[in-house]
Amino acid sequence: MADAETLGASLPQIRTALPGPVASALVDTLARAESPAFTTRRARRAESSGAPQDPIVWAEAVGANVVDADGNVFVDLTGGFGVAGVGHRHPKVVDAVQAQAGRLLHALGDLHPSDVKIRLLERLAAMAPQEDARVILSLSGSDAVTTALKSAAIHTGRPGIVAFDGGYHGLDHGPLAACGYSEGFRAPFAEQLNPHVRFAPYGDASALDALLDDSVGAVIVEAIQGRGGCRVPPDGFLGEVQARARANGSLLIVDEIMTGLYRTGVPFASMHGSAGLDGPPDLICLGKGLGGGLPVSACIGSLSVLEAWGDPGQVAIHTGTFFGHPLGAAAALASLDVLEGEQLGERALAMERRLRTRLGDLPVRGRGLLLGVVPGVPALPLVRRLLERGFLAIPAGMEAEVIQVLPALTIDERLLDAFADALLEELDR
Ligand SMILES: Cc1ncc(COP(=O)(O)O)c(C=O)c1O
Repeated sequence: MADAETLGASLPQIRTALPGPVASALVDTLARAESPAFTTRRARRAESSGAPQDPIVWAEAVGANVVDADGNVFVDLTGGFGVAGVGHRHPKVVDAVQAQAGRLLHALGDLHPSDVKIRLLERLAAMAPQEDARVILSLSGSDAVTTALKSAAIHTGRPGIVAFDGGYHGLDHGPLAACGYSEGFRAPFAEQLNPHVRFAPYGDASALDALLDDSVGAVIVEAIQGRGGCRVPPDGFLGEVQARARANGSLLIVDEIMTGLYRTGVPFASMHGSAGLDGPPDLICLGKGLGGGLPVSACIGSLSVLEAWGDPGQVAIHTGTFFGHPLGAAAALASLDVLEGEQLGERALAMERRLRTRLGDLPVRGRGLLLGVVPGVPALPLVRRLLERGFLAIPAGMEAEVIQVLPALTIDERLLDAFADALLEELDR
């Protein structure tokens, strides 16, 4: 085990082959217990990349470090899929969750809500860019996007959606219909998905002219495509999309599940001046880092949009047993305190500058600490070699063409430097 004092900001300490003996036994158990699809996928990836793909097994994570079941210490460049904005197991998040667990674990959602859920709703509405904002909480990113798509449908009375090639919004049926990332995700369920979805090339707002008509209720877009390869659209793109959506009577949904909450320096990436928006998006989706490690997500919109839900004569037609769960709400309030109190947006931008400088000529896409390094060589074997050196990273992009850098916004600069050096060394080999 690493020195407890430095864990969180520790350089890698790899003591076994990967996976080590404890993890190997667990991976065998995994293969026997988990859906076979995952084991098969790993085997196929190993075959195609020529590099082993057995996972490490997480046993502990703190700050920017992950410790596996064999005691190896890794630097986590994934931030647990972008969840650990405040770092893994931030003490303020842990304290808040522990205190909440000592008071109330579960309440009655929208019927008789918890005090802490109400405080989170108030906090999110206050930080939202929309006038008179209102919030619907849920658990996953996919949930938040489902809420946004349903809100747009109920507000406009239109079933259609325009989404973008390379976009990723989650894999439940609603968002899956709007997933432009990989046809492979959609194909087995094609007959079950919303048939009124059209795709436009990301970055080309003029393509919407041929796609928008009075059947389209929503245009859904990421401010920067995350899983799609950390692709930053041209300046003004979001504004042009917004203008076209507005003129067509469609709502603009910006999926900020990966880009939001200071990862690109500001609370909402769509509010960077370069996005060119004229006023806030109609609906914004948040998830991932919101709960500082607990599952909580949100769809935020103005009252004028979300009041479409409000027919007091009806039962609640969009709810969930665990939506607004007290533990998630407590964690989210603490995580927002940390993001704001520790000025992590500024830190994200400072770390971006540092990493870009350290990587020299290597092309880097993205903004803040949502970055994609373009190595120019197949990413899967490279990512495995980095893992063996103690740097945990994953590829992104439709061709797995980038190595995604999505770490804790609190990551110690020495760790980022060491990652950059290891990457450059591997590319030199
Ligand atoms: C932009 C974006 N939207 C939605 C999702 C789906 O979130 P979840 O996996 O929590 O359902 C993701 C997940 O990566 C995402 O990056």
